[in-house]
Amino acid sequence: KQDMNVRLELSKASALEKIMQRGTLRVGLEAGYMPFEMTDKKGNIVGFDVDMVTEMAKAMGVKLELVNTAWDGIIPALLSDKFDIIASGMTVNQERNLKINFADPYIIVGQTALINAVDADKITSWKDLNAEGITITSKLGTTGEQAVKRLMPKATYKSFETESEAMLEVLNGKATATVYDLPMTSIFYAERGKEGGMKFLSEPFTYEPLGWAINKGDPDFLNWLNNFLRQTKNDGRYEAIYTKWFGS
Ligand code: ARG
Repeated sequence: KQDMNVRLELSKASALEKIMQRGTLRVGLEAGYMPFEMTDKKGNIVGFDVDMVTEMAKAMGVKLELVNTAWDGIIPALLSDKFDIIASGMTVNQERNLKINFADPYIIVGQTALINAVDADKITSWKDLNAEGITITSKLGTTGEQAVKRLMPKATYKSFETESEAMLEVLNGKATATVYDLPMTSIFYAERGKEGGMKFLSEPFTYEPLGWAINKGDPDFLNWLNNFLRQTKNDGRYEAIYTKWFGS
């Protein structure tokens, strides 16, 4: 009987207690989403999210473990306890929120579009993308993909496993446009797109708060995360990390 009580206690325990007991915070993310998580030349995963969870682990007094996980399996992996939290530029949307909880948003982004050089003159607004004969790319399982299907139903949609493949397809003239989150399109435009004659429609046409995701039924962890976020936003830590990755 006592054994059963112990097991019951354990299963109900907050992720927070498990993290403290383990001495490690396990973070699920998918590298490839600039500047939030990407692989540097040495093979390390770096970025805005990585710096924030580094601060998080420090505040908990535990080690940090990054678990690089394919985007379309990242929610199932959280649900099956492969890690404690998703910090991967995940948009808080109502569909995902039915399955998982989100802490308060740590940044707001939105969908933007990059147009290939040949079609650049014809397309002046994202609304022009909703037309037959237009091919639009984005990344599998993202809100970019959802936005194309919802807002540009007349266009042909082409899905890619990674954001860079989706963007290169357009740079190489094999598709009209790519639709994706603002920070990433802006970096791609600066690094490759501008030189390649692409047009950047940089005014976001969706509202996308990004938040850390955790399993449902864990108010203790949620409370810790929201208080941690507010603290970093007001004591200079958030600002320093923001400036490092986004400039001032
Ligand atoms: N914000 C978008 C979404 O939630 C894209 C996030 C992609 N993140 C990543 N680490 N690849 O669908």
